[in-house]
Amino acid sequence: MLLFDFVTIRKESIIMRHLMSPLDFTVEELDQLFDLANDIENNMPKYAKMCEGKKLATCFYEPSTRTRLSFEAAMLNLGGSVIGFSDAASSSASKGESVSDTIRVISCFADICAMRHHKEGAPMVAAEKSSIPVINAGDGGHQHPTQTLTDLLTIRSLKGSLGNFTIGLCGDLKFGRTVHSLINALVRYPNVHFIFISPQELRVPDYITEMLREKNISYEEVIRLEEIMPRLDFLYMTRVQRERFFNEEDYVRLKDFYILNKEKMALAKQDMLVLHPLPRVNEISVEVDDDPRAAYFKQVQYGVYVRMALILTLLEYAKPTTPQE
Ligand code: NCD
Repeated sequence: MLLFDFVTIRKESIIMRHLMSPLDFTVEELDQLFDLANDIENNMPKYAKMCEGKKLATCFYEPSTRTRLSFEAAMLNLGGSVIGFSDAASSSASKGESVSDTIRVISCFADICAMRHHKEGAPMVAAEKSSIPVINAGDGGHQHPTQTLTDLLTIRSLKGSLGNFTIGLCGDLKFGRTVHSLINALVRYPNVHFIFISPQELRVPDYITEMLREKNISYEEVIRLEEIMPRLDFLYMTRVQRERFFNEEDYVRLKDFYILNKEKMALAKQDMLVLHPLPRVNEISVEVDDDPRAAYFKQVQYGVYVRMALILTLLEYAKPTTPQE
């Protein structure tokens, strides 16, 4: 199991922070980050030049549209610029270059880096050798901290607070890194009850249920979505992660296990909200998009605000400080 704690690397007079896991920030620091994100949402022009002259490198060894473009949009909204690559084949990784070497090179070109990698822990390896802040933009089936920040900001903005709710997480709970990251983050808030909805084969990993038991946090595991719909305040739908399956037959058998449609939505509370990290495949029928409770496209917008807030925050930490005598 890989669970990274606070990564603070002290180099000469620079105290720099990276983001590897949502737990890298305390609950209080997260509140400040979300306040900043909400201020950005309401006063966008105020932030339009804050990163002038700064460069973000997006190093994506694994395909992504949303996350990469969300980072790029965030930096451009701040007046900065963007360089990078969008798949391993178009980087020197195809020539055999290590992540450690790549980040040392990128550190000479850019001020901050967002890295996605198919290998668990790769952004952490990069952070150890980097002289610029590194953001984990998703590492294998492990963590996806900026999606979690997006999810938390969406919940906080649309419901007013983080805590005192029942959340159903549905679909691929085994391979879905957004689910793993979100559970880790939500356990720090009061009175959150988890309902895990998945087929037996895609159950949430044991290390997560063990962690919940150790912390005395209540959870249930069910197979049928219909039976628990009326109890949910949030439903977090996920796609079955085809690329992490060992054989195609299993994927085909499980891919359409859950399809959220109008009939199932009719069983839910009037103010329940549906979230999804996207991309969607078949797990939410398009007819649900017009339901006012469908919040997954708003969630994408919150992703840009929170990434803007994160870039500003990490660049602030990376500023040289006067050395202590
Ligand atoms: C998620 C991811 O990459 O893990 N997508 C995203 O970042 N928005 C979810 C997924 O791919 O299913």
